[in-house]
Amino acid sequence: MKNSIDIIMLLLILHAWLVSSNKCLPFGTFLGSNLEVKAFSNCHNNSLSIDLNYHADIVTGLKYQSVEYARRWLIQVKNLAFKSIPCASDIYHLNSFYDISSGESIPLYRIPNGSFCKPNEGSLLIYKRTKKNPIGHVAIITYVGNDHISVSEQDWGNQMWSGDYSRNITMNSVDSKYYVVDNNNKILGWMSIKNKGLCVDNKCQTCPKEYKGEESACLYE
Ligand SMILES: *[C@@H]1O[C@H](CO)[C@@H](O)[C@H](O)[C@H]1NC(C)=O
Ligand SMILES: *[C@@H]1O[C@H](CO)[C@@H](O)[C@H](O)[C@H]1NC(C)=O
Ligand SMILES: *[C@@H]1O[C@H](CO)[C@@H](O)[C@H](O)[C@H]1NC(C)=O
Repeated sequence: MKNSIDIIMLLLILHAWLVSSNKCLPFGTFLGSNLEVKAFSNCHNNSLSIDLNYHADIVTGLKYQSVEYARRWLIQVKNLAFKSIPCASDIYHLNSFYDISSGESIPLYRIPNGSFCKPNEGSLLIYKRTKKNPIGHVAIITYVGNDHISVSEQDWGNQMWSGDYSRNITMNSVDSKYYVVDNNNKILGWMSIKNKGLCVDNKCQTCPKEYKGEESACLYE
C-alpha cells in the first residue's frame, strides 16, 4: 500500500516537473495541423536528423525541420514546391517556387521586414541565421491581423499547438511600414507569391541575390 502511494507521489512530481519545465515533446510527436498539414516535434534532432520525409513522391526535407514543414504545406495546400536549399534562411534568396504538376516557375516577391507591404496569408516568414539559430528558420504565415500574425511551423519550441497555428507573433506598423517582431530573433522578411493584387515594395529591388546553389552552403545571413 505504502509503495503504491510513493509511486503516485513520484508520478505527480514528475508530471509537475514536465509541465513546468516546458520541455519539448519527444521527436515525432504530432503537435497540430493547419489546413490538414500536420506538424511533428523535432525535439533533440535539430539539424542532426538524416531521415527524409516525402509527400506525393517529392522529398519534403529532413524530419522534422522547419523547411520540411514549409515545403510539405506548399505541396499539400498550393501544389507548389521549392528547390533544395542548404539552410532555412536560404529560402530568402529564392526567386521562384515551381508547380509540382506542370513544373511551371512561380515568381516570388522577397519582402523585407520593415516594408510598406503587409505580409499576406501563405507567405513564408524567414528568420536570419544566428549562433543560436544556425540554419535560420521558416514559418508559414496563416493569418494576418492588425497587430499580429499567426504562423504554422515545425522545429520552434516543439510544443503542442493550441489551434490551427503554432504561434502568434507581434506585428507593428511604424510610419506605414510593417515589422514582425519576435523577441530577439532576427527576421529577414517574408516571401510572397506574386499576384496582381499584391503590394509591391520597390525597395525589394535591393534585396539579396538569388541562391543559385553553386556557393557554399548556408552562406547568407
Ligand atoms: C531523433 O531523436 C530521437 C530522440 O529524441 C531518436 O529516438 C531518433 O532516433 C532521432 N531520429 C533521427 C532521425 O535522428
Ligand atoms: C492568435 O491569433 C488568432 C487570430 O487572431 C486568435 O484567434 C487566437 O486567439 C490567438 N491566440 C492566442 C494564444 O493569442
Ligand atoms: C526588422 O527590421 C528592422 C529594420 O531593418 C530591424 O531594426 C529589426 O530588428 C527587425 N526585426 C526583427 C524582429 O528582425
